[in-house]
Amino acid sequence: MSIVLPSGPAGARILSLGDYRPTRVVGNDEIARRVDTNDQWIRERTGIIERRIAGDSESVADMATEAAAKALAGSGLAAADIDLVIAATCSAQDRLPGIGTVVAGRLGLDAPGAYDLNAACAGFCYALAAAADAIRTGNARHVLVIGAEKLSDITDWDDRATCIIFADGAGAAVVGPADSPGIGPVAWGSDGGRNDTITCLGTDPYLRMAGPAVFRWATTSLAAVGRRACELAGLGTRDLDALILHQANLRILDSLVRSLDVRDKVIARDIVDTGNTSAASIPMAMTRLKDRGEIASGDLALLLAFGGGLTYAGQVVRIP
Ligand code: UT7
Repeated sequence: MSIVLPSGPAGARILSLGDYRPTRVVGNDEIARRVDTNDQWIRERTGIIERRIAGDSESVADMATEAAAKALAGSGLAAADIDLVIAATCSAQDRLPGIGTVVAGRLGLDAPGAYDLNAACAGFCYALAAAADAIRTGNARHVLVIGAEKLSDITDWDDRATCIIFADGAGAAVVGPADSPGIGPVAWGSDGGRNDTITCLGTDPYLRMAGPAVFRWATTSLAAVGRRACELAGLGTRDLDALILHQANLRILDSLVRSLDVRDKVIARDIVDTGNTSAASIPMAMTRLKDRGEIASGDLALLLAFGGGLTYAGQVVRIP
C-alpha cells in the first residue's frame, strides 16, 4: 500500500489584509525624557517620529485577533472556511496556549490547524511561505497568516540602543488557492554565526541588540536575498511595483532602495509613525499601503525581512 497525497491548486495568493495599531502614540520626546537621547538623533538615525505602544492589559493575542478579524472580514470567507492559522511572533508572554489557537477560538474558526512560528522579524515572510506551500500541496485551502508583537514587554526602557526603535502592533492576511500564483517562491535562510546580535536570553526579560552589527549585515547582505526572491519568481527588481521591507530603520530601507534599483517604485515607509514591530511590520505596512490606495490590486510587491537569528526571507507577492 502506498500513502496517498492530496493534490492542490497551481498556486496560492493573498486574498485580504488586516492590521491593528494600538491607540497610544509615543513620540520621541517622551522617550527622551527617560533615556539620554533626543528627537533629532532618533529621526536622523532611524527615521522614526513616533510609535504605537499597546496598553498594559493588551496582549499579543488581543492585537492578533483584531488584525485577523479585519483580514477575515475582507476576504468574504466564513470563519469555517479557514483550515489553518499560522501566527508569527517572538514576543508573546505566554508560552501556552499558542497565539494561533487563541485567535482561532476567539474568531470562532472551525477546528483549524493552528501553530505559532518564531523567525523573529522575518516571521511573517516565513509564515506566508508555509501557508502558500500548505495550500499548494493540498494540506489546507484557506490559511490565516498573522504577524503580531508586543515588543514593549521585552524592551528595556532604560536601554537607549533598543527602546528608540521597537513598538507594538499586528497584521494579518488570508491566503487562499489561485490558478495563477500570487505568492512567489521564498528566498530564506539564516546566519547562525550572527545569532548573538539580537537576543532575548534565559532569565533576562529584555531584548538585547548589537544594532550597528545588524545594520551592517542588512545593508551589505539583504539586497542579494531580495534579488534572489525576484529571480525565483522569474522577475527582476524592475518588474516590481512596490518594495515592502521589514520596517527596521529608514536608513536600511533607503540603502536597499538604492541597491535594488527601485527608487521609482512604491516604498513602504510605515516605520515613521509605527516604529519597528518585528514580525508585524510587513503585514501592517502592506495593509496600510492598500488601504490608502498607494498600491493597487494585482501590483507586484517584494516582501523582504530580516531579524534575530539572523533569519531572513523574501518573496514576491501580488497585492490582493
Ligand atoms: O528589526 C530587527 C533588526 N534590527 C535592526 O535592523 C536594527 C539595526 N540597527 C539600527 O537600526 C541602528 O544600529 C540603531 C538605530 C539601533 C543605532 O544607530 P547607529 O547609527 O548604528 O548608532 P550607534 O549605535 O553606532 O551609535 C552612534 C553614536 C554613539 O556615540 P559615539 O560613540 O559616536 O559618541 C552612541 O553612543 O550614537 C550614540 N547613541 C545614541 N545617541 C543618542 C546610541 N544610541 C543613541 C540614542 N540617542 N538613542
